[in-house]
Amino acid sequence: MKKILRWGLSIVCICWLWPAAGFANENSEWFECHSDEGLTKESTDNILKTEITEFLYVDEEKFNHSVHNINGITCVDCHSDIEELNYDEEVPHEQYLKAVCCASCHEEAGDDFKNSVHMKMRNKGITMTCYACHGYHYVQHMESASVAERENSICLKCHNPYQFHDWLPSRDSHFAYVECVVCHAPDVPRHINLKLYDLVTDSFYKSDKLFKVLGMEPEQFMGTIDANKDGLIDAAEFDNLVLLLKQKNIHAVFRAELVADINSIAHHVNRGTAEKTCQNCHSAESPYFNAVSLIFSKDDGTVERYNVARPVLESYHVSHFYLLAGTRMKLMDKIGIFLLAGGACAVFIHFTARVLTIPLRKKKDQDEA
Ligand code: HEC
Ligand code: HEC
Ligand code: HEC
Ligand code: HEC
Ligand code: HEC
Ligand code: HEC
Repeated sequence: MKKILRWGLSIVCICWLWPAAGFANENSEWFECHSDEGLTKESTDNILKTEITEFLYVDEEKFNHSVHNINGITCVDCHSDIEELNYDEEVPHEQYLKAVCCASCHEEAGDDFKNSVHMKMRNKGITMTCYACHGYHYVQHMESASVAERENSICLKCHNPYQFHDWLPSRDSHFAYVECVVCHAPDVPRHINLKLYDLVTDSFYKSDKLFKVLGMEPEQFMGTIDANKDGLIDAAEFDNLVLLLKQKNIHAVFRAELVADINSIAHHVNRGTAEKTCQNCHSAESPYFNAVSLIFSKDDGTVERYNVARPVLESYHVSHFYLLAGTRMKLMDKIGIFLLAGGACAVFIHFTARVLTIPLRKKKDQDEA
């Protein structure tokens, strides 16, 4: 973790204004040097102040696929203290650049991040940068990412959730189907993503492939599926969709996951504020399952999104979500009662044991005296 945190400064930095760089600049110019995997520099800019070799290679292919490059952000939009390249020098720009300030563009995220345990760590002298979580050169759109991808690329870099959450049953299921920040930033808007999972190729169906097989454009999808034109795919329409897929020889199930909206309130992670009340999720009225959408991922990490009625979660074709939708909540109530009873039982046994052992403990005290 030290390694990730060692670039200590980005959000403490006094953010200078963007855009600073006015000179003509093509990313290709930068790759003349930075596509060299052997390019390094010696640096003492780390927590231990020891000299280390820093690699200066940037993977052009991966950078080109990043959300920043796709949106026209160039090297100097971030490394904004580079004002020009002077090829008379061995290194055509300053060797030691200022820390990059992500919040100069992402102001709202920067503000919301202030209300978080990860920012408050500063009082203990540890500074966490934006890119400790997000990375920097290869940032991707997160909308289409699964719970596992979001957790692996962010929280699990530093935390092992199995060290905590002893009180939570079926931890594997919760960590697989509920994104960490849904519980840990409880104000974040959230929704259920339904994704089409291909049982033959063992992977999620991508948007372009799916629409090719269906022989239609994404814009025609709702027109075909949403028979009553209310903008919502209801249970009957969903069954027709499954039928249509079968006719096209697509044998798939839908995987449902509870994820946070891509919203800066997701940064509000704080100690002691996380969602712990089972009933808030596991009840027929739970607000956690009101927004449901069917998504098909595109290559750039964005999605085609269609609204779905909540009862669809009860469909036989939706894997694993059987405990959440309305009618099957009765079973959950029973599990709830059972758990409560289990807890009370443990207290009772402990208490009884204390009472039964009073004479023994008295005797032990006397012996010791
Ligand atoms: C989204 C912002 C952003 C963009 C765009 C960006 N960088 Fe960076 N770059 C960073 C951050 C953050 C660091 C981490 C180091 C720091 O700030 O001290 C970094 C570090 C580097 C380093 C040091 C080695 C390393 O990987 O840590 C090099 C070299 C570099 N960038 C080159 C480039 C080049 C070349 C481009 C354009 C192709 C580019 N950067 C585009 C944010 C960016
Ligand atoms: C502790 C990890 C963490 C840190 C540190 C962090 N983020 Fe985030 N960020 C997240 C998570 C989680 C999301 C929500 C995405 C999701 O649901 O997976 C998010 C979402 C975002 C988004 C998309 C939502 C929006 O506001 O448009 C941006 C942009 C963003 N972060 C920028 C930043 C910036 C800038 C900083 C530094 C001030 C920062 N993040 C620090 C975890 C982090
Ligand atoms: C020069 C302005 C600029 C800087 C500096 C910058 N970004 Fe961005 N960032 C953007 C733009 C533009 C987008 C695309 C916005 C969109 O699609 O809504 C973006 C998108 C993102 C997203 C994707 C959010 C999503 O929709 O899923 C994340 C995460 C992110 N940036 C993090 C960072 C981090 C971390 C840094 C610092 C290393 C950084 N940005 C620095 C301009 C910037
Ligand atoms: C770069 C490493 C890193 C990442 C990534 C990270 N955290 Fe943390 N987190 C920490 C550190 C270090 C602390 C301890 C803060 C302290 O002791 O004050 C912490 C504290 C916490 C706490 C408070 C409880 C505690 O043990 O102090 C929670 C809850 C938490 N993180 C959740 C998350 C979630 C959810 C994510 C993903 C969105 C995440 N963290 C991502 C490093 C990280
Ligand atoms: C069902 C909701 C839920 C989910 C899902 C969940 N957590 Fe938690 N987590 C909690 C609650 C409640 C606590 C108790 C402490 C609190 O209230 O903040 C906790 C405690 C923690 C702590 C220790 C906090 C402390 O104060 O010591 C960390 C770190 C943490 N979770 C990280 C994660 C990470 C990482 C994930 C995702 C893999 C995750 N959690 C998923 C609800 C959840
Ligand atoms: C933030 C919402 C949320 C909270 C809070 C929550 N759960 Fe869950 N729970 C889920 C989701 C989503 C699933 C996965 C759906 C499924 O397996 O049917 C799940 C699954 C389960 C399962 C089934 C696991 C399996 O493998 O079939 C049990 C049992 C369960 N939860 C019990 C609890 C209990 C007890 C609590 C309180 C201590 C709790 N949950 C708190 C959302 C939540």
